[in-house]
Amino acid sequence: MASTTTIHPQDLPALIDRQQPGYSLQRPFYTSPAIYQQDLLRFWGEQWIWAGHSSQVRNNGDFFLFEFGQESVIIVRSENEIHAHLNVCRHRGSRVCLQESGNARSFVCPYHAWTYNTDGSLRGGRLMPADFNPVQNSLLPVHLLNFQGLLFISLASEPPPIDQNLKKLAPLTAPFELDNLKIVHQASYPVPANWKLALENYLECYHCATSHREYSKSHSLKDPEAMTADLLATMKAKSVAAGLPVDELCICGSDAEQPGSEVYYRRYPLFPGYLTGSQSGEPLAPLLGTLSEFDGGATDIQIGVLNSFLAYSDHVVGYRFIPRDVQTTDIQTVWMVRADATRNRDYELQSLKWLWHITTLDDERIIRHNQAGVNSNHYQPGPLSTMEWGIVDFHHNYLKALNQRSPRD
Ligand code: FES
Ligand SMILES: [Fe+2]
Repeated sequence: MASTTTIHPQDLPALIDRQQPGYSLQRPFYTSPAIYQQDLLRFWGEQWIWAGHSSQVRNNGDFFLFEFGQESVIIVRSENEIHAHLNVCRHRGSRVCLQESGNARSFVCPYHAWTYNTDGSLRGGRLMPADFNPVQNSLLPVHLLNFQGLLFISLASEPPPIDQNLKKLAPLTAPFELDNLKIVHQASYPVPANWKLALENYLECYHCATSHREYSKSHSLKDPEAMTADLLATMKAKSVAAGLPVDELCICGSDAEQPGSEVYYRRYPLFPGYLTGSQSGEPLAPLLGTLSEFDGGATDIQIGVLNSFLAYSDHVVGYRFIPRDVQTTDIQTVWMVRADATRNRDYELQSLKWLWHITTLDDERIIRHNQAGVNSNHYQPGPLSTMEWGIVDFHHNYLKALNQRSPRD
């Protein structure tokens, strides 16, 4: 049973002031419905959020919905351009599109049949007054960013300025040819916990050694960097030979111009015998992009605060932690391989998803227990370890965003 805390928005500044840096957040941040609403408005409403991949909208009319909190966005290709529209009718506010994905020539509101073109413009409404102007009643546009085929949306009036940082990231990710991927599986793992506990769990690997037996067998990230220096040097030599840059990029936390413009890229070694994140260590799919061989590494990529990817040599896994309610979050895991790979010939789905399916189940369990403990009336914020620097950065930006006045206040 979810435990909630009553707090009023006017109490928020004092609560933010009381938050000790380097500690987990105070209880109301994980339990208060009022803070959850502020999270949606001031944080999620102001960020870039990874919605999907351009391969989902290859042809004109192809669309899919992306939803979080109480928001729903239509991502659609119209006249060879990808658009994002708020899925809210301009008549009396009904959801317009109820289908998760498909191909449409137009979107017809199920309530009174106002009909929108795929570019969002309104064709017309029945029996409207003579002075009714359809041009003023298009679906509200939503910002869309296409980074090498990864599609991000933002409901902010001015989304975080991430372009300059993405320019620095672009050459590092170029060899993977992310735009030449396709989604072959996505799964949702609902967890009865606040979205911040789910995200924080992903932002640290302090828990990996204790909670992820399978992952820890093959991935060195669970160990402090000093312990893996030799492995890293060996991998880097192979990365160069495979055609992958070995630079690292971390424009994180207070270095980012504004919460939401963070970019992170780091490749780290798998243990000897593992070419990719597979059970056997053997390849799972054809090499990505321009890679000429397996270097035995995996790259953590973060774009903005909320969007994380793990790029192996032969597949990419994307992660999102979608808020549904104050203590309900969907952990979404998305598996991508080369667009031209064929199932059962070039990859086998069960093997491909094995690691991150069981690892996400582990995460669901530990996040659930984390929320149960935080719900105790006697929970107190605890000190973070040196391996939890990602959480420190997140808290910095999260609290800063919550402290800023939203244009919708
Ligand atoms: S609410 Fe959409 S047509 Fe009336
Ligand atoms: Fe984990």
